[in-house]
Amino acid sequence: MEKFVVHGPCRLQGTVNISGAKNAAVAILPATLLVDGKCHLENVPDISDIRAYLEILESLGSKITYISKNEMIIDNSDVGSALASYDLTSKFRASYYLLGSLLGRFNSVQISLPGGCNLGARPIDQHIKVLEKLGAEVNVMHGNVYAKRTSKLIGVPIFLDVVSVGATINAILACTLADGITVLENVAKEPHVVDVANFLNSMGAKIKGAGTDVIRITGVESLKQNSSYSIIPDQIEAGTFMVAAAATRGDVLIKNCIPKHMEPITAKLIEAGATVIEEGSNIRVTMDKRPLPITVKTMPYPGFPTDMQPQMCILQALANGSSMIVENIWESRFHYTDELSKMGATISAHGNTAVITGVEKLYGSPVISHDLRAGAAMIIAGCVAEGYTEVYSIEHILRGYENIVDKFNGLGANIEYIKEGN
Ligand code: UD1
Repeated sequence: MEKFVVHGPCRLQGTVNISGAKNAAVAILPATLLVDGKCHLENVPDISDIRAYLEILESLGSKITYISKNEMIIDNSDVGSALASYDLTSKFRASYYLLGSLLGRFNSVQISLPGGCNLGARPIDQHIKVLEKLGAEVNVMHGNVYAKRTSKLIGVPIFLDVVSVGATINAILACTLADGITVLENVAKEPHVVDVANFLNSMGAKIKGAGTDVIRITGVESLKQNSSYSIIPDQIEAGTFMVAAAATRGDVLIKNCIPKHMEPITAKLIEAGATVIEEGSNIRVTMDKRPLPITVKTMPYPGFPTDMQPQMCILQALANGSSMIVENIWESRFHYTDELSKMGATISAHGNTAVITGVEKLYGSPVISHDLRAGAAMIIAGCVAEGYTEVYSIEHILRGYENIVDKFNGLGANIEYIKEGN
């Protein structure tokens, strides 16, 4: 069994470098399948979700040449199959991007129903709707999704019923090589949606409007090979360190991020009393007092990201008064509050709302990472707490944070990685 032991309390101080964005990378890797040739990718995060995705690509016939652990050339000239293994694709959510990318290139595709963090119901009806509108036939049976087309996908106007990051990116992937023009309305505007569009455009795709509510895609015959692309920095990793700096009353320079992407988080940290200074592609966060109580309502970008909700809760748990979280994206994202209660936090969560009564201190305890971002929150809580915090189920954390122990310890934390037994 693996665990992290976090010895607290500590004050985080120093400089941390942000890795490439997980949620952009898990879309750009399948996007490379649209190219009958080579792509050169830089700033690919070295995390377990990406290693799993690269394994899926290899199982489909991709040849991957590593220049470093974060830089590689992916050659998809020999990809001849669109049958992704159940074992590989059922492990994580972003395997759904194989639907759009493989159906863009081949006549049929099969993947398993996507797994991923347990945040309540995670339907893919909008992904299926998009593919059907473009002319594909989609069936869900025995835990698998099958999609096929008898001719090229054909661009049409499509209005998404909910703002979905995954469905927006899947639509972009499916439409890139389709016939005609697709106009997608009510789409997600997250930075990783824009990054996927930029990546495809850098190879000759015609995608306009990514980052707004309407995306217009003019299908092209093929994409150019031998392009080179660097993935954007991870908004959520940067946000995690910003909150960790404030929660530990520290002074941290977060390097290689895009301050514009951080605005919803920056705004809340300033409301809580932190000082946040943007310096080019760096952000410095300092905090010298107990946080003020704040209300957080999660929303699609440019609103406050749901994936920062558990981390921000640590700051609220320490605030001088009562705070609130309203979770508007996922139906079940408060499991982690029971873990924080073990550490002395006072949180009452019902439905999509949590009320947090701030306490002066947290105390170390054994806790579980219920999901990726909840796990990051446990690490921040451990840094703040008196005594030591054992964090279990860390495989969730390793899915999405590159070198998390080294990065925290480089700022003055004291985290041990321990592997017990087999
Ligand atoms: C992505 C992120 C995830 C983040 C989420 C919201 C990746 C790999 N994961 O997940 O970390 O928490 O965005 O920012 O990028 N929905 C439907 N039908 C669908 C699709 C979604 O009803 O077909 C609903 C979901 O239940 C949810 C909302 O739409 O309530 C947003 O989901 P979506 O943006 O699709 O999340 P993911 O792309 O799965």
